[in-house]
Amino acid sequence: MATTEIRGIGHSVERKEDARFIRGKGNYVDDIKLPGMLHLELLRSPFAHARINSIDTSRAAALPGVIAVVTGELMAQHNLAWMPTLSGDTQAVLATDKVRFQGQEVAAVVAESVYVAKDALELIDVDYEPLPAVTTPQQALEADAPLIRDEKEGQTDNRIYHWEAGDKEATDKAFADADKVVSLDTFYPRCHPSPLECCGCVADVNPATGEATVYMTSQAPHAHRTLFAIVAGLPEHKIRIVSPDIGGGFGNKVPIYPGYVVATAASLLLGRPVKWIEDRTGNLISTGYARDYHMRGELAVKDGRITGLRTTLLSDNGAFYADAQPTKFRAGLFHIVTGSYDIPAAHVVADGAYTNKAPGGVAYRCSFRVTEASYLIERLVQTAAYELGVDPAEFRMDNFIKPEQFPYESATGFLYDSGDYPAAMKLALEKLGYDDLKREQEEARKEGRLIGIGIASFTEVVGAGHGKDYDIAGLRMFDSAELRVHPTGKAILKLGVRSQGQGHETTFAQIVAEELGIPPEDVEVREGDTDNTPYGLGTYASRSTPVAGAATAVISRKLRDKARTIAAHLLETSEDDLEWEKGAFHVKGAPDRSTTIQDVAFAAYTNLPDGVEAGLEGVHYYDPPNMTFPFGTYAVVVEVDRGTGEWKVKRVVAVDDCGVRINPMIVEGQIMGGLTEGFGIAAMELITFDEEGNCIGANFMDYLLPTAWETPEFELGETVTPSPHHPIGAKGVGESATVGSPAAYVNAVVDALAHAGIRNLEMPVTSDKVWAALQEAGLAE
Ligand code: CDP
Repeated sequence: MATTEIRGIGHSVERKEDARFIRGKGNYVDDIKLPGMLHLELLRSPFAHARINSIDTSRAAALPGVIAVVTGELMAQHNLAWMPTLSGDTQAVLATDKVRFQGQEVAAVVAESVYVAKDALELIDVDYEPLPAVTTPQQALEADAPLIRDEKEGQTDNRIYHWEAGDKEATDKAFADADKVVSLDTFYPRCHPSPLECCGCVADVNPATGEATVYMTSQAPHAHRTLFAIVAGLPEHKIRIVSPDIGGGFGNKVPIYPGYVVATAASLLLGRPVKWIEDRTGNLISTGYARDYHMRGELAVKDGRITGLRTTLLSDNGAFYADAQPTKFRAGLFHIVTGSYDIPAAHVVADGAYTNKAPGGVAYRCSFRVTEASYLIERLVQTAAYELGVDPAEFRMDNFIKPEQFPYESATGFLYDSGDYPAAMKLALEKLGYDDLKREQEEARKEGRLIGIGIASFTEVVGAGHGKDYDIAGLRMFDSAELRVHPTGKAILKLGVRSQGQGHETTFAQIVAEELGIPPEDVEVREGDTDNTPYGLGTYASRSTPVAGAATAVISRKLRDKARTIAAHLLETSEDDLEWEKGAFHVKGAPDRSTTIQDVAFAAYTNLPDGVEAGLEGVHYYDPPNMTFPFGTYAVVVEVDRGTGEWKVKRVVAVDDCGVRINPMIVEGQIMGGLTEGFGIAAMELITFDEEGNCIGANFMDYLLPTAWETPEFELGETVTPSPHHPIGAKGVGESATVGSPAAYVNAVVDALAHAGIRNLEMPVTSDKVWAALQEAGLAE
């Protein structure tokens, strides 16, 4: 009989991984040093758009310590000057014909040291012929705009796609019948995931065996191995991708970047390991951006109910279309834009355009454009409440999908698995003391003080697949778990996903603990090495728990079934006579006749019933039947300074529902991180470009991230609505707060000024914008 408590699901088990992280014993890509290793540095374009007339590498090649200078021409000889993107476009690895954004990779130096490589970059002479730059998607779609992708056959303008979802006719009818139409034009600015660790790799191609081991910052090592095989024409079984500890990813480490490809090609050609480590400016100026979405939303309202939603989107994708999203959905899952509301008709129109900027559209802690959708609907609903003269919380309550409507099919075709939106909202308002606060707001106004209350009741969609609709670069989005229980009852769990700080080594061990009764401290979780883990699509879009977590629960249950057979043999009874209690089987009605999972594990290798295979091991590939739909209500209170336009966050209340929480402490950490990122996006983060396409925001002096100083305090709450189709009822949570919170912060600042007619402020809501609005509204002091 199990005697000590086995801390499975619902326990705030301390993070196992922290034992090495807090001692400085993490093993990141830059910690890897191989004998004979060379260093690679990239030369980046100073121009946003320019023809390359010539590249002279002779001076750089002559510098002592330089081993090779690589250009696009050399890469082209190996058919590697271009590579496919995650959206089926092509991207230059090293520019051959033109540069198409500032910071684009033009050449590379491989040298004995980083310092020599960097010095040699300055000796490469490139003759550029500058061309006019296109810096907005509106400009890109003008008839006389310079053609950015002139190398692409059949590409005669800068449009990438036109995509529609929903029912146009039904939506038009809803608008024709409406008694009020409310609209909002807004822009979700370009921002950057900015992980603490930038991207990098060590490529080690063994000339004797042809084996290529690439240590890289990869959120999706298996998918990257397949793409490497396809792009480089290397045999996949000879490629090993190892993704060691990762210092944050947030989506930034999903795409394949030129640095990885050039380093691998250089190692292949030179027969020595080659390391490439990106610096901060390289990361900010060239790697996967997020958002950059121009949005117009319109709501049709009749008798206080939202009857229709129309959106028109224009996405700035930069010079190469590199969004990470299922091929079927050109604007990602933006069509979740109906959010938490029961809206009978919706129509989404989306266009994408090339511009002379770094490729964007990767997830930044957001699955496939859901952040933009959530922001738009939550801003729009708040605007509608003002226009109708009703309380924004009440208007939401009246229009929520009701708990009894689940599973709920949205007007754009999502089947929401479960939800109780009024419960989350009620709890948030209660914690906030909403009614008192509204009164306080009124009183403050009379005294000339501006207090704002912003609400966002978001719904997320996470956990891609199912595989028939969801893919990355054609690979179906399932995931996997392999569990091996050793004779002494200790176990190794191997997963196809890859943590970047989310605590998988702890939470996935807790799932095994719950299902198989082995304490979490006895379960070692391994991820990130394609030779030693089963195939999976990786960690992004909060999919690890919904997909790999489900795979872990299923394989644990399968092993428990086998354990039952062995336990029956050990206890000399039939399987039907056994009862399972976490960690042990006992004979029904005779609790003293029992055997522990550890005894059963030993017997699996030493004392088996006839006809039963030895061992207690297995692997499960899980293709989820549906996505999971976490949700919540966030409420933010701010005070705006009428003299300066500065605003201060006074309170943040966040109620989240991610179904069953495996590790409440880790979930809360995820939420606090997301609320901080949401605050940064709403308040200060901005990567912008001048009219020549020069990137402003390529360092942390210009691109501001919130520090502990600016970050507000958070008051958290939870409701639990399990996912009905997930084996343990869990939904993903990693992105919820980054998705849901920006609208709450912005709604709060707008609310402070709304009584004077202000309806919109664009992110980042900096004090100069608020100051202008205060003046416009006659509120400035
Ligand atoms: O895919 P990613 O790990 O980024 O996101 P996630 O699946 O939402 O999980 C983030 C972290 O929170 C993981 O350690 C999860 O196991 C944990 N989590 C949890 O404990 N309970 C949930 N219901 C959801 C996530």
